[in-house]
Amino acid sequence: HHAVSTAGDLLFHIRAHRMDICFEMASLIMDRIRPAVQVQDEVHGFKYFDSRALIGFVDGTENPEDEEACEAVLIGEDDPDFKNGSYVIVQKYFHNLDAWNKLPVEMQEKIIGRKKLSNVELDDETKPDYAHNALTVIERDGEELAILRDNMPFGEIGKGEFGTYFIGYARSPSVTEEMLENMFIGRPKGNYDRLLDFSTPVTGCLFFTPSSDFLDEVE
Ligand code: HEM
Repeated sequence: HHAVSTAGDLLFHIRAHRMDICFEMASLIMDRIRPAVQVQDEVHGFKYFDSRALIGFVDGTENPEDEEACEAVLIGEDDPDFKNGSYVIVQKYFHNLDAWNKLPVEMQEKIIGRKKLSNVELDDETKPDYAHNALTVIERDGEELAILRDNMPFGEIGKGEFGTYFIGYARSPSVTEEMLENMFIGRPKGNYDRLLDFSTPVTGCLFFTPSSDFLDEVE
């Protein structure tokens, strides 16, 4: 499995509860920058049932919240020039849903590490060490390191395209990169994330996310 790296200079992550607001925002931005840019990709994600990915599992449950989210995501005093900024890694994944849906639900649950319907986490005896939520849990100096995910399902039914747009914010890209290494190479090597047998990334890029204060100062 290969986590491709694709080119990109600017990422606009536009969120709202209403699609028309996102659409309008994107139009306004493009009115300003169209002559200077070439659009590489445009993905319109949507919320699927109770925040599920198109593979049917609730996605985002273990995201940090409030203080913990700020701690995980915002650059601190260790890098004062970029304080309150962040780093975001995005990857556009296509799922082979036909193959995924042919797997028994028990196997899907082992791959994700949670129950499909109830979203309850598998207990330690049942959860394999290759489960997605085993390989993406990482620790440094005895402390668990979190990222903030804002994955969005997307797709085009007519083309048979079903995807997850992975979006992960962290105060250091090394955290997300370590998770990617565990998923793609394996922990230990070879014990990779079986979700990748059914999900293929076609883009992958890292961006610095400036704080609004930083942007004010750029002018
Ligand atoms: C095909 C793309 C992906 C899908 C469909 C997906 C789906 C899921 C689902 C269903 C969960 C369990 C519920 C939850 O806690 O959110 C989960 C957990 C998680 N995923 Fe992913 N994921 C994808 C890619 C990634 C990538 C690329 C990373 C990191 C580089 C990642 C990091 C995590 C983390 C940190 C957790 C929480 C683990 C825990 O603390 O239990 N995921 N993901």
